[in-house]
Amino acid sequence: MPKTTGDTALAARVPPGPRGNVVFGSIGDIYRDRLRFVLETARTYGDVAQYRVAHTRVYQVNHPEGVGRLLHDNHRNYSKDVPTFGTLRMFLGNGLFTSDGEFWRRQRRLAQPAFHRRRVATFGDLMTGATREMLDRWQPRAERGQPLEVATEFMRLTMEVVTLALFSTSVERDVETIGRAITTLLNDVTFRFTFPFYPPLRVPTPRNRRFLAARATLDGIVYRIIAERRRRPAEHDDLLAMLMEARDEQTGEGMSDKQLRDEVITLFLAGHETTANALTWASYLLSTHVEPARRLRAEVDETLRGRVPTAADMPNLSYTRMVIDETLRLYPPAWVTNRRAIEDDTVCGYRIPADATVSISPYVTHRDPTLWDNPEGFDPERFAPERSAGRPHYAYFPFGGGPRQCIGKGFALMESTLVLALLAQRYELHLVPGRRVEAEAMATLRPRHGMWMTAHPR
Ligand code: HEM
Repeated sequence: MPKTTGDTALAARVPPGPRGNVVFGSIGDIYRDRLRFVLETARTYGDVAQYRVAHTRVYQVNHPEGVGRLLHDNHRNYSKDVPTFGTLRMFLGNGLFTSDGEFWRRQRRLAQPAFHRRRVATFGDLMTGATREMLDRWQPRAERGQPLEVATEFMRLTMEVVTLALFSTSVERDVETIGRAITTLLNDVTFRFTFPFYPPLRVPTPRNRRFLAARATLDGIVYRIIAERRRRPAEHDDLLAMLMEARDEQTGEGMSDKQLRDEVITLFLAGHETTANALTWASYLLSTHVEPARRLRAEVDETLRGRVPTAADMPNLSYTRMVIDETLRLYPPAWVTNRRAIEDDTVCGYRIPADATVSISPYVTHRDPTLWDNPEGFDPERFAPERSAGRPHYAYFPFGGGPRQCIGKGFALMESTLVLALLAQRYELHLVPGRRVEAEAMATLRPRHGMWMTAHPR
């Protein structure tokens, strides 16, 4: 058990951790296998551990109480001023995901109404429409028994959903271009996470030129739509319209074009890859666990009786939702997040010095055997209310927590539930034998070799 958080700094101890290489610290172990490194560090050193990545000392906080202190109780002491968010800023600018302090607080207040539950429910038809088109597209391959790479399929789907939710019909002709540009930027950011010493954007390497071209394409489309909307407001009913209408309570001011651009591109990015990964891992887990897959199909058949689900069906698709919760436990797409401590703090009885990089990983805490029975097992019903009672609050945090909890949580859970339900109505997915499945922990947790599956019509 940890000591109570918030102990006086005097009593606090220095956290233990691996020594690593004299010069590089733990870089070698991290590059070899990130997930294994963070899991082993937690299992070996406990609630809070520390290690070095070259000249940076990282404090890895594993215990739910410590996670709660960082994300909630003392969240003002932890900023996003760390290199990972710096890399993302090249792409996202200063949007909700990457900003901090008063600026972030104002943006969050402005954006929050767009993600109100009733508002999100209006996107249900858009989500099911796009999903049904995808499932129709699968039909010829399903009939011939040809494999599909479902990670890419889900990525395309969630990209289309978030694009339409943001811009409704204004972008129909641009969806493919937007998708290509975002993919280029995302792959590039992932590369820069791995190679942080790659030359900065002002150096005209082929990679940097590609990045700048993709960013310019995306900016061009986004600014064009904002300008059109400024000329003819109130013709749309989408997320962009909500963001453009939002006014600061105190000053009455709305967002500038640049600010709208940053929020829109943030929502593109934050809103699709994570959800696509969740759907991919859910499909994998269901294909390898016969009984949960059978129960899911039974719930869908009984609740929907063949009709297309809507937002109103959500409460009756509780097993489907548990499958998603359990998928996000085992494979949380946002598997790690970092912060910088502004002042000294004490977390679980350990001292975190000012300026330290602090890291929390739902992947680690979600697999802690002191918090979860059979942590490696796929058991959706552990999320049934009677089995969830008494679980520490931050034992489970796939969407983060505190004031910076994912603003798109309701959107993502509704989308995943509707997609899984429609999928289960129509097909059974089977893994293609001989294809390797391995989690790759980059910016998100995704399957390194894709996810090859065959769709079997029901
Ligand atoms: C399964 C899908 C998703 C997962 C697992 C996920 C996870 C997360 C997590 C863990 C955070 C907090 C990061 C941190 O504290 O450093 C976050 C923040 C955020 N997410 Fe999500 N997310 C998902 C889907 C979405 C969707 C669909 C949207 C928008 C349509 C979205 C928009 C955002 C935004 C804007 C933030 C920043 C919020 C802020 O700091 O105020 N996410 N997400």
